[in-house]
Amino acid sequence: MLQTIQWTGEAVRLLDQTRLPLETTYVDIVDERQMWDAIKRLVVRGAPAIGVAAAFGVYLGVRGSGDGSRGAFGRRLSEVCDYLATSRPTAVNLFWAIERIRRCASEFLAALPASEADVSAVRVRILQEAVAMLEEDTQTCRAIGEAGVALFEALPRGPQGDISVLTHCNAGGLCSVEYGTALAPIYTGAERGLRFHVFADETRPLLQGSRITAYELQRNGVPVTVICDNMAASVMAHGKVAAVIVGADRIAANGDVANKIGTLGVAILARHFGIPFYVAAPMSTVDFKLSSGDGIPIEQRDPAEVTAAWGRATAPPGVAVHNPAFDVTPAALVTAIITERGVLTAPYREALTHARRRLSARTFRW
Ligand code: MRU
Repeated sequence: MLQTIQWTGEAVRLLDQTRLPLETTYVDIVDERQMWDAIKRLVVRGAPAIGVAAAFGVYLGVRGSGDGSRGAFGRRLSEVCDYLATSRPTAVNLFWAIERIRRCASEFLAALPASEADVSAVRVRILQEAVAMLEEDTQTCRAIGEAGVALFEALPRGPQGDISVLTHCNAGGLCSVEYGTALAPIYTGAERGLRFHVFADETRPLLQGSRITAYELQRNGVPVTVICDNMAASVMAHGKVAAVIVGADRIAANGDVANKIGTLGVAILARHFGIPFYVAAPMSTVDFKLSSGDGIPIEQRDPAEVTAAWGRATAPPGVAVHNPAFDVTPAALVTAIITERGVLTAPYREALTHARRRLSARTFRW
């Protein structure tokens, strides 16, 4: 599988997802400003990947901060963390990752003897934590795959013996470090000999479904058919979809799910046609501070993403545009949430709270 984020020892190497599917190229990110820009422009994208990238971004921002006092280091750390937190508002993994690095650094500093003036060791500690997060992300995605595969084994097969699944946006290996969330049960199932067929919604305006999901599934040998977003109802009506699975950018404490714009429509369709609608996400995507999805901040993006595509205008100049990047699917439409802690079903407030109790305090405290 392609790895979206690598640490070279000097730089953070990102797979440039803006250039997919035609070019598989990498960019080396050397400071926090470049990382902010890479997150904003979706060079690196998808909630788990954004979190890991931001963790490295904090390291890049403090690595040249000199061996000054603890106070000076703390101020620089805060400045870098606050800055990176402004890159995108919806995926809570960004804030989770920044908070984890911030806490790790402040606990390390607090544990240094008062006589110890040199704070350079904390930078090493921050890098270690970012590398740990990179490695954990793959383990977490693998665990999501293991937890979710039984749901797919139980689904009815098509005439060719395959399990037909519809997904929206990209929640595959390229939304994480390498294995994905929504596509993880499909990859795990395929490793065990299950046969899948995936309908990938193209996902306007930025086409993460056709550019990225179709690219990675094809590359990994999983049969995939791209459909325009407005074809989902038709393929469901023709009995071609056994289940829907999507990722999430933020899940509120009651199980409401923010994900790529268009997900809500797919969930409503799935309910209409009696098709299970699964959400796969790590526990770091759950925002326990938000009681419901009403409080989830929705990113508004540049109107130009809607009025132009691939070098040409797709709308008249000056036309008004509404371009929210995400929508919120109410928990009532979600059949199950697949996490690294297992498959959770309603009532989600209780199920999520119970799953949180079993998480390691080191990786999940906020
Ligand atoms: O704007 P993007 O491409 O970052 O949006 C990504 C999505 O909406 C994914 O479905 C979501 O992050 C889940 S990935 C685990």
